Amino acid sequence: MAHPLLARKPLSLLLEEMKGENRLRRVLGPVQLSSLGIGAIIGTGIFVLTGVAAHDRTGPALMLSFVAAGIACVFAALCYAEFASMAPVAGSAYTYAYATLGELFAWIIGWDLILEYAVASSTVAHGWSHYFQDFIGIFHIKLPHMLTNAPFDYDLTTGRLAGTGTWFDLPAIVIAVLVTIVLVIGIKESAGVNTGIVILKVTIVLFVIVVGAFHVNPANWHPFAPFGLTGISFFGKTVAGQSGPAGEPLGVLAGAAIVFFAYIGFDSVSTHAEEARNPRKDVPIGIIASLLICTTLYIAVAAVLTGMVPYQRINLDAPVSDAFRQAGLPWAQFLVSLGAVAGITSVLLVMMLSQARVFLAMARDGLLPTGFFGDVHPRFRTPWKATILTGVSVATLAAFLPLRILADLVNIGTLLAFVIVCAAVLIMRRTNPAAERPFRAPFVPFVPIAGMATCLLLMFSLPSENWLRLFVWLFIGFCIYFGYSRKHSVMARMAAGPPVTAPVAGEPVRTR
Ligand code: ALA
Repeated sequence: MAHPLLARKPLSLLLEEMKGENRLRRVLGPVQLSSLGIGAIIGTGIFVLTGVAAHDRTGPALMLSFVAAGIACVFAALCYAEFASMAPVAGSAYTYAYATLGELFAWIIGWDLILEYAVASSTVAHGWSHYFQDFIGIFHIKLPHMLTNAPFDYDLTTGRLAGTGTWFDLPAIVIAVLVTIVLVIGIKESAGVNTGIVILKVTIVLFVIVVGAFHVNPANWHPFAPFGLTGISFFGKTVAGQSGPAGEPLGVLAGAAIVFFAYIGFDSVSTHAEEARNPRKDVPIGIIASLLICTTLYIAVAAVLTGMVPYQRINLDAPVSDAFRQAGLPWAQFLVSLGAVAGITSVLLVMMLSQARVFLAMARDGLLPTGFFGDVHPRFRTPWKATILTGVSVATLAAFLPLRILADLVNIGTLLAFVIVCAAVLIMRRTNPAAERPFRAPFVPFVPIAGMATCLLLMFSLPSENWLRLFVWLFIGFCIYFGYSRKHSVMARMAAGPPVTAPVAGEPVRTR
């Protein structure tokens, strides 16, 4: 029998638990699933982080950064899709890891997903705030300066944190609270509403590409890669490319490590597996199609943005709409800001919903306190305590921590989750060769190995202090796992004695 740390949750048990829930109707086809993916993907990454990346790390070569990050994501997405087709149940990578790699890996991924969902939500809320302020600024409305941003930011010229003269980011708090209220009350899952927002968002992105193309000055693309084509460091020592004032790597790969954030969210398609008409086929299609569409759009936006504005003059807060202001098209700035505010809101909804759902899944397995994280509201049928905790954490982080630091932390955590998912596919092909795989990642072992290698490369292209933050995060996670979760694990208790029922299995939960 496997060591308890590697105890796996049988797939049959997962499927059994799903039966206890109010079954969601299987209504989503490949188009709706891809649209849900796009709804979760296009947000702060493309609308905000492109500014920092182009200005500080890449120059016009930003488009190559999107290619590099897109390639890493495609490898990871193929591996993700294989997992999603093997275990088409809600719960994301955490659930797949529990069914295939065992409890300890499931814990690591679940703990890591907090970086991907909750901390990413804080970054997204910040991005929302930037565009909201840009939008009201068009009508000459200004918030008091004290309430516009986090109290400190990373100063690239000194390589230190510097005060911004503000207290906190009020709009980021407000949007996090509003989204929390919506998620607690539980708006009915509506692929229709999502499709509406996605159409608006994609239209705005196409508008940026098409209208922006008429305002491109090819001279702005020279020099093309002022910071070089690489940018890799190894725990603080730059091993390829130039370094910045704080020793951080600069160049195309360093930019890719930042704009990787723009791709996060494609995996959320798998959280809808339960509602897919044909999950084993359509979920992989949804994951891969949404990723490929976004990659194409991103490369085009990067080309247009750096062609419209010299990279040194790209705005850091609302770069895309500001490019149209600089081009003398205030009406276009209005449209882009409005589209960005609406589009980023939908990303926030999906991210915060996913976080509460992962908490719920972990609580059901006994790895987190069930009474809190697994508590389903008697009237709204939503995991309200977990949702409120998520909302309070998101609002607090977004209010006080700068966007760039949050984004880097999210990226390193998510990249680690992708590395584990790629490794898991490789391991599963050896340990469970006969398991049914309706979707098989092609060219195994090349694809998972290339996925691990490219994601690790991007991890090493982030400023080195992120590794320290990641290790501290994982250390805290291990303390909780060995101090609490292991003792309370339903699987461990099942193995030790008479059967234990999953604490809240059977509680119907409503999604958005
Ligand atoms: N990819 C999402 C965004 O860019 C997280 O906002």
